[in-house]
Amino acid sequence: MPSTFKDLRIVDNFYQTSSFFPMPTIVIGTLCEDGLTNLGSYSLCFPYYIAGKEYYAMLLECRNNSNTAVNLLRTGKCSLNFIPDRRKYFKEAVRLGYPGDTPQEKVKDTIFTLEKGLRAQEDPDGRYPEIIAESFQVFECSWDSSLDNASEDTVQEQYNPPFRNFNGITSTFGAHFILKVERILMQERYHAAIVNGMRAGRFPRVPVDYGYRDNTRFWYTRFRRPLAQLIPKKKGQELSSVVYAADRMDDQVKFTEAACARLVNVPRVFLNTALSACVKWAKENGVVEITAEHMDIINDKRSKEKGRRRS
Ligand SMILES: Cc1cc2nc3c(=O)[nH]c(=O)nc-3n(C[C@H](O)[C@H](O)[C@H](O)COP(=O)(O)O)c2cc1C
Repeated sequence: MPSTFKDLRIVDNFYQTSSFFPMPTIVIGTLCEDGLTNLGSYSLCFPYYIAGKEYYAMLLECRNNSNTAVNLLRTGKCSLNFIPDRRKYFKEAVRLGYPGDTPQEKVKDTIFTLEKGLRAQEDPDGRYPEIIAESFQVFECSWDSSLDNASEDTVQEQYNPPFRNFNGITSTFGAHFILKVERILMQERYHAAIVNGMRAGRFPRVPVDYGYRDNTRFWYTRFRRPLAQLIPKKKGQELSSVVYAADRMDDQVKFTEAACARLVNVPRVFLNTALSACVKWAKENGVVEITAEHMDIINDKRSKEKGRRRS
């Protein structure tokens, strides 16, 4: 059968000129020399180190003479503010994405509310960019300039070769920044959703943008209630899903795999409640790792309590 696809020429900015590529809408806060927080809009910002390294990181791709790039080269600090879907916020993101304006001009009239982030509160003597209060989540990051010798890069009027491969000034007009994620700040209700279990109605209103499609318009789709697709059942899956939830329950109290095995028959909607009851018991009893034997004690205690309530 002949292919139904046509070969499309790959040109600069192929992700928005030669394809349809879904992206996040992020407004990046960086520190200017006078202490002002500049705001610039960015979509090419994705998870980079996600596990197995000493830290977690994002990757940002941007114009090397943007206010954001200049400030990152100078101070290395930024806040990645994830903006929820509202027409007026997207309009503002597009205004903040217009090249050529100075930080003072851009930030003076912004509709966004700027406030101190957690890093500034933890380290009152340090200097950190502010964060946008309307965000559903904020990543507070610092640039890792040690990779690819990027610490040698400084702010210039114009950049000439040789360029770096993946961090710092990477081409005549481009820069890449590997950003260490230092804090993830989450609005309370979404924090609760992540800790207590996701349901469709608990997602933040996340917009998806598709970039410029011509020189006049920026395209994005509005948030729609997400759908959940069950993954096919495989042997051992029940246990791994309990282990997954148990690992995320508490930063001090852990569960052995044998302890998790005792919970595989608990209906998924009650799993977090059951796990948090176990954590509560562990804390009351000075236990840091819950074993299968501990689970027996907890279950015994529960059955006795149930019995008492019935009689
Ligand atoms: C929603 C949106 C996403 C954008 N994403 C990027 C991006 O990923 N990389 C980039 O270099 N420019 C991007 N731009 C263009 C920048 O926002 C533009 O260069 C702007 O001048 C940057 O602001 P700054 O100079 O204050 O950093 C985007 C613009 C918009 C509106």
